[in-house]
Amino acid sequence: MEEDVTGKAYDGRLMRRLLGYMRPYRGKIALSLVCLLGYSLLQVCGPLLTKLAVDRYLEPSGQLDRFLSANPFTGIAQISAIYLAVLGGIFITEFGQMYIMQSVGQFAMFDLRRELMVHMQRMHVGFFDRHPVGRLVTRLTTDVDVLNDLFASGLVTILGDLLTLSFIVFVMLRMSIGLTVLMLCVLPLVIGATVLFRRSVSASYRRIRVAVARINSYLQEHITGIVVLQLFNREAKSRAEFDEINRQHMHAFKDTITAYGWFYPVVEFLAYLSLAFILSYGGYRVHNNQLSLGVVVAFLQYGLRFFRPIQDLSEKYNILQAAMASSERIFKLLDTQVEVVAPEHPQPIPARDASIEFDHVWFAYNGEDWVLRDVSFRIDAGQTVAIVGHTGAGKTTLISLILRFYDVQRGAIRIGGVDVKEMNPLELRRQFGVVLQDPYLFSGSIAENIRLGTSSVTDAEIEEAARQVNLIDFIRTLPAGFDQPIRERGNSLSTGQKQLISFARALAHRPRFLILDEATSSVDTETEFRVRAALDNMVEGRTSIIIAHRLSTIQRASKILVMHKAQLRESGTHQELLAVRGIYHKLYELQYMNQPDLNQKDQNAEALAG
Ligand SMILES: Nc1ncnc2c1ncn2[C@@H]1O[C@H](COP(=O)(O)OP(=O)(O)OP(=O)(O)O)[C@@H](O)[C@H]1O
Ligand SMILES: [Mg+2]
Repeated sequence: MEEDVTGKAYDGRLMRRLLGYMRPYRGKIALSLVCLLGYSLLQVCGPLLTKLAVDRYLEPSGQLDRFLSANPFTGIAQISAIYLAVLGGIFITEFGQMYIMQSVGQFAMFDLRRELMVHMQRMHVGFFDRHPVGRLVTRLTTDVDVLNDLFASGLVTILGDLLTLSFIVFVMLRMSIGLTVLMLCVLPLVIGATVLFRRSVSASYRRIRVAVARINSYLQEHITGIVVLQLFNREAKSRAEFDEINRQHMHAFKDTITAYGWFYPVVEFLAYLSLAFILSYGGYRVHNNQLSLGVVVAFLQYGLRFFRPIQDLSEKYNILQAAMASSERIFKLLDTQVEVVAPEHPQPIPARDASIEFDHVWFAYNGEDWVLRDVSFRIDAGQTVAIVGHTGAGKTTLISLILRFYDVQRGAIRIGGVDVKEMNPLELRRQFGVVLQDPYLFSGSIAENIRLGTSSVTDAEIEEAARQVNLIDFIRTLPAGFDQPIRERGNSLSTGQKQLISFARALAHRPRFLILDEATSSVDTETEFRVRAALDNMVEGRTSIIIAHRLSTIQRASKILVMHKAQLRESGTHQELLAVRGIYHKLYELQYMNQPDLNQKDQNAEALAG
C-alpha cells in the first residue's frame, strides 16, 4: 500500500525541494525570524527581572543600581513597568511570528495544490486507470495539510525552541554554573523518555495514516455503491468489514494516547524534580551567603521554561516525519511523467481534409494484451461510419485512440493525412463533438452543462440543440428551465435525460467531427426517432462515427465496420454486409428474427389484459 511508507524523519533531498515552495515568501519569513529572535530573547528577560527585583529590593543587603530608584516601592514599580513592556513585546512578537508563518504556510499550500491540480489535469487518461480517485484526493487534501503543519509551525518553531533553549542555558551559566549543572542532570532522563516516546508514537502514527487511507477508500467505494449494497442486503457484511478497519484506526490512536499520557507527566515530574534539587541545593547556598536569593528564584522560573521546548521538540519531530512521508508521495505524483504530450512543434489540423484513417493500428492497455490488432480503415471527409460489434470488441477503444486519450503502440491514426501524435491534443479534441458511453454531467445548471465553458455558445444555440434532441419538453417542466441546477454527477436525472443533455452539448458546439458512442441507448423509441432526425441534419457534411448496438440506428451509414475480438472483420454498407452472410448478418438475424415472437407475446399480453 502506498500510504505505508517507512518515513524517515529527515531527508535532505525532500527538504530542499520543500523549501523551494517557501522561497517566494523569503521576505515574510525573514520578518518572522526577526520576531522569533525577539520573542526568544524576551522570554529570557522575565526571570532576569525577577532576580533584579529580589536582589535589589527584597533582600535586606540588596545593592542599589544607578538606573533604578533607591526607594523600594518606586524601584519595584519601575521593574514592573519594564516587565509589562517585556510582556507586551512577547505578545507582539509571538503574534507577528505566528501570523506571518501561518499565512506563509497557507500561501505555500495554495501554490502546491494548484501545481498538483494542473499536473493532474495534464495527466494522460491511462494514469487514472491505475490511480484510484480516493488516493488522488488524499494527495491534494490530507497530504498537503500535513505539509502546511511543517511550513506554518514545524520548521520555524524548531528554530525558535532551539534559540530559547540556548539563550536560557547561556543566561543560567552566567548566573551559576553549579545550579545549571544540577538542573541539566535530569536532562539525560528527559532525553531517554523523549526517545522512547517518539519511537512508540511514530509507529502508531504510521498505523493511523494507513488506517485513515483504508477508511477513506473503503467509504468512498461503499458510499458510491450504496444502492447495490442495499439491493443485495450486504449492509451487515459491509458494516463488519468497516468495523475491522475502524478498529485498527482506534487501536492505533489509543496507542498514541497511551504514549502521550505517559510522556507529559514523566517530563513534568523530571522537571519538578530538578526544581526540587535547585531549591534544596540553592537554598543551602543562599543560607551560607554563597548565592543571592534572586538567582534561585530566577532558576526556578527558568526550570519551568526549559523543559517546555524539549517537549515541543519531540512533537515537532512527529510533524517532520509525517511531512517527509507526505512530501514523498506528493513529489512522486508530481514526478509522474505525462505520457500523452503535445509535440514541440505541433502540426496544424488540416482545415480542408476531414478524413480519419487507421493505418495498421495495434493497441493494448497493458503490455501485450492486444485490444486492437492490425486495424486499418479509412473514413472519408463528410462520411458517416458506424461501428458495431460485441461487448468488449474494442469499439470505445477506437474512439479513445482518435481523441488521443492513449497512444497507439504500432501503426498510426491520421486526421486529414496528419498523424494525431503530431498534433496538439487540445486542438485535436476541440474539433470533435463526442457523446460518451456513460454520460457525465457536472454540478451546475443544465445550460452550463450544455455550454461547458465555451462562451461562444449562445443561449439560442443551446435552446436549438435541446429542441433537436427532444429535450425541450422536459426542460419546460422544470421550475427553473435551463437554469435548473443539476446535482452531483447528474444524480437527479434519468440516464436517458443525461444522454440527451450530452447529445445537446455535442450539437451546440458545432464540431467538425462527430462521435456518438451508444448515444441513445437509454432513451425511449419515440425520442430516438426524433434524435435520429436531428442526427440526419447533423451528420450532413460532418465526418461522423456512430457506435450502436441497436442496428436500426445505423442502417443508413455510408459504411459499417464490424469489430470482432480486437480485429476489424467486415466492412461495407448494410446491404453488402448482409450479402456476405458473416458476423453482421448473424447480429442482424439475432436482433430481427426474434421480433415476431416478441410481437406475438405483446399481443398475447394485450389479449389477457383485455
Ligand atoms: N482502461 C482500460 N484498461 C484496461 N483494459 C481496458 C480498458 N478499457 C477497456 N479495456 C478492455 O479493452 C477491451 C475493449 O474495450 P472497449 O471499451 O473498447 O469495448 P467496446 O467494444 O466499447 O464494448 P461495449 O460494447 O461494451 O462498449 C475490453 O476487453 C476491455 O476489457
Ligand atoms: Mg464501448
